[in-house]
Amino acid sequence: MAKIAIIGAGQVGATCAFALAQAGLAEELALIDVKTDKARGEALDIAHAAPLLPAARFVGGGYEMLGGADLVVMTAGANQRPGETRRDLLSRNLAVTRAAAEEIIRRAPEAVVLVVANPVDALTSAALACTGFPPQRVLGSGTVLDSLRMRYMLSLHTGVDAASIHAIVLGEHGDSELPAWSAMSIAGMTLEEYCDHCGVCDARLPEVMRAAFDENVRHAADRVIAWKGATFYAIAVAVCRIARAVLRDERSILTVSSRLSGEYGLEGVCLSLPCVVGRAGVLRRIPIKLAPDELAALRASADAVASMDARAAEQVERMRR
Ligand code: 2OP
Repeated sequence: MAKIAIIGAGQVGATCAFALAQAGLAEELALIDVKTDKARGEALDIAHAAPLLPAARFVGGGYEMLGGADLVVMTAGANQRPGETRRDLLSRNLAVTRAAAEEIIRRAPEAVVLVVANPVDALTSAALACTGFPPQRVLGSGTVLDSLRMRYMLSLHTGVDAASIHAIVLGEHGDSELPAWSAMSIAGMTLEEYCDHCGVCDARLPEVMRAAFDENVRHAADRVIAWKGATFYAIAVAVCRIARAVLRDERSILTVSSRLSGEYGLEGVCLSLPCVVGRAGVLRRIPIKLAPDELAALRASADAVASMDARAAEQVERMRR
């Protein structure tokens, strides 16, 4: 069995810990926060359920808890406030990511690192640069959550179980993300073919409905944040799914964020594409066939993330001086 360390015991980190505790993926779950009492309290609150949870140790504290982790989940950082975008968090969360990376190098040098804090694509690049780990071992939760949201929205529309709907969102986890409509399917049918069969609306998924689904997914977090202040349940379930693929070496295909190495002519930027995820991290990316408009949107997304990466690199350079 393995050890999972979660850096950040805020709403996202604590909810990830709770989800992971129920998944039974590791023999030790360590919650880490600069507010060590918070980390200890969250871990103890979960530990009290131990008799009804898969066997594991639940510990909390500072970075001393990081030792020997096989998977490190980086949730520490500020969350969006209502009206803020994920990109607005870059400068605040970069320092946290860099400090955590230094501790990971020292205490868990063989770990797979899963970045969750936002802006997740830029922070995945930063974690990769700051740890110096092999690119496959540093990934971000990316658009795994957006793909879940799209599957949920399509499920509401079609009346089909969301687990039976194959839908993916690619690119930045954020404003420039793009639904890969051409890669979506239900019962092995393309959406267009399924529409002919479905009959729920009066025509094939018309452009106006695609736009509505796209808008709903793109701004799903804004809606939840406006109502309850933050999102943490669905992202925790997404993190759990990624952690399972890593720790059980499932070789699952998930739209995690990873550094592209020439797919679609894109290099060096972290974005979400369908990736084979296993014990070593991102084993490979699958450059699926995209429609021309989807390819253009992916390239625009890469440009948007690359400009964040440039700002991040300047800030890290200033921090080093
Ligand atoms: C979400 O999409 C805020 O990135 C977070 O729920």
